[in-house]
Amino acid sequence: MLPLCQSGISPVFVVKKSSEIQTRGKEMRRAKISVIGAGNVGATTAHWCAAAELGDVVLLDIPATEGMPAGKALDLFQASPIMGFDSKITGTTDWSDTAASDVIVVTAGIARKPGMSRDDLLSTNAKIVGDVAEQIKNTSPDAIVIVVSNPLDAMVQRTFQVLGFPPSRVLGQAGILDTARYRAFLAMELGVSVEDITAILLGGHGDTMVPIPSCTSVGGIPVTQLIASDRLDSIVERTRKGGAEIVGLLKTGSAYYAPAAASAQMVEAVVRDKKRLVPCAAYCDSEYSVGGYFVGVPVILGGSGVEKIIELSLLPDEKAALNKSIDAVRELVAAMGRPTA
Ligand code: NAI
Ligand code: 2OP
Repeated sequence: MLPLCQSGISPVFVVKKSSEIQTRGKEMRRAKISVIGAGNVGATTAHWCAAAELGDVVLLDIPATEGMPAGKALDLFQASPIMGFDSKITGTTDWSDTAASDVIVVTAGIARKPGMSRDDLLSTNAKIVGDVAEQIKNTSPDAIVIVVSNPLDAMVQRTFQVLGFPPSRVLGQAGILDTARYRAFLAMELGVSVEDITAILLGGHGDTMVPIPSCTSVGGIPVTQLIASDRLDSIVERTRKGGAEIVGLLKTGSAYYAPAAASAQMVEAVVRDKKRLVPCAAYCDSEYSVGGYFVGVPVILGGSGVEKIIELSLLPDEKAALNKSIDAVRELVAAMGRPTA
């Protein structure tokens, strides 16, 4: 299994031969990870989590897909003797099988097709994600919930509204993916290892995401010393449109390998209490003057979920770009409206 790395801070997914266990509560036991939605992102997230022995994985989809999640789970489990991982993987359409999960990854919903923006998914996925959150509240009240469904910033807000969990236990995956795309493009441009690129992107998961060149370096060298500013701008633009680029190539859906790897990295940070410093959609109130929305910011992610939000001191143009991105998130949440009872 390949090691995966993010942000250049330290390698992750060093696959261990023994099953990981965690010590929440008195009993030593494996973490229970439920992945909601057994489609492309969900099944691939289950794959990465199982292969890295992050815990036992439950893959859930709707009753209309009966057999599909169980089939994918069994298939994945049958890969374990070959690849050498000891995770229990089950597929189900019954929420009771997810009960008392430690971490839940929400990938339920429809994905983009060519010509659609993430925001086009708003009303359909708000309903789906709201229903999913109701189920999570009843079956896994102590879980840490990682939302992946799009449009991400609104879907994590809806999940939070319905769950009523503390904000530290609800977060969204987007920043790790966007930053990984940016790092991959920078590595391609410079002909260097992806491992040597450290970067961070802030803001919403959309066209307004905000690169922070002062936090982007290559083997410790500021990127601005290695890439001319017009070239860097076009790499940023490609990153902003990174999701659409994949949609345009696939034609039938959206990206899933990198989104799933990013989601699994967040699961790993929680179940192994890694204290990773990664960009996630986290609930910000006074932070960055957001006022109660989920926005992509650097956080310390560990066993309790979002343990700290890091506030960067931004240059005026970076701050202006972040404010524009926060406004876009606010507009999206307003367009979604409140959950219906
Ligand atoms: P997909 O269509 O392959 O899978 C979605 C699955 O969700 C389907 O199997 C469907 O039956 C299931 N589902 C629908 N309603 C459900 C419910 N109430 N409970 C449980 N399962 C339910 O789509 P894919 O490619 O896996 O994408 C999933 C979502 O993730 C989309 O909204 C997509 O836009 C989003 N996404 C987000 C990314 C991010 O970085 N935040 C990156 C990539 C995708
Ligand atoms: C992506 O960025 C569609 O949000 C998804 O690939």
